[in-house]
Amino acid sequence: MTNENVREIVTEQQDGVMQIRIQRPEKKNALTLAMYAGLTAALIEAERDPAVRVAVLTGSGDSFTSGNDIADFLAAPPTGDDSPVFQFLAALRQFGKPLIAAVNGVAVGIGVTMLLHCDLIYVRAGAILQLPFVNLGLCPEAGSSLLLPRLIGYPRAAEWLLLGELFRAEQALDWGLINGIGTDAEATRELAMAKAQRLAQQPPAAVHLTKTLLKRAEAQAVEDTIALESQYFVEQLSSPEAQATLRAFVERGRSSRGK
Ligand code: COA
Repeated sequence: MTNENVREIVTEQQDGVMQIRIQRPEKKNALTLAMYAGLTAALIEAERDPAVRVAVLTGSGDSFTSGNDIADFLAAPPTGDDSPVFQFLAALRQFGKPLIAAVNGVAVGIGVTMLLHCDLIYVRAGAILQLPFVNLGLCPEAGSSLLLPRLIGYPRAAEWLLLGELFRAEQALDWGLINGIGTDAEATRELAMAKAQRLAQQPPAAVHLTKTLLKRAEAQAVEDTIALESQYFVEQLSSPEAQATLRAFVERGRSSRGK
């Protein structure tokens, strides 16, 4: 089913599992304001509907998502809590049912940081991931400055966040960011769906309680960290260093299209 207002966010529901697919493959599934709103609506719907036991996030084409649409960063940057990206992060952080990521291809920026809020994460073999916030003159978001070092250790988190270099699914598995790797996009989705179907058969109240307990120790710190990161992120977006890198990306696209 296509989300009512946002054709790039497609949901399908079967046997207790809601699949939420990001579908803007020609732009590597870069997330626009409307797409964040669509994702938020899908998560709220999945939370509300008792028939949904598990949600699975995935992409389309060769990408999971290349992160925030960079043209949007320039034209309609987030400003405060009611900005679509921050609404999405709130919905993600508060989502009470199991959330599984089937990362079928490239994941950049929020494409990686949203994984820190998923319960199980499967990635296509060889897929490229990147946290290029510093490269763009920005700073980490989605609680990643807290969650990433806790998950993989400070030196490794510093490497990914400060250098902003590409890394691959295999390194993400080796460093403990993800649960498993699928040989290709289809196998990755099958792996994620098999786990989703198993989870959908588990007693739902016990699943909910367990997720709440798993998240409890960090819940307040994550909320506080997201608030602080968001404040810095919004400030950095209008800084000369960020404006220059963001404009360079948009200009590169225009010149390669001969515009
Ligand atoms: N925002 C807006 N447009 C994006 C985008 C983004 N985040 N990511 C990709 N696109 C667009 C490209 O501009 C290009 O558009 P065009 O065909 O109209 O020129 C199209 O998607 C294909 O991308 P391209 O760069 O040609 O593909 P690639 O396979 O060479 O590289 C990426 C893929 C994801 C590595 C590269 O597109 C990239 O680095 N994107 C930016 C990621 C980013 O910095 N996100 C923000 C994080 S905070």
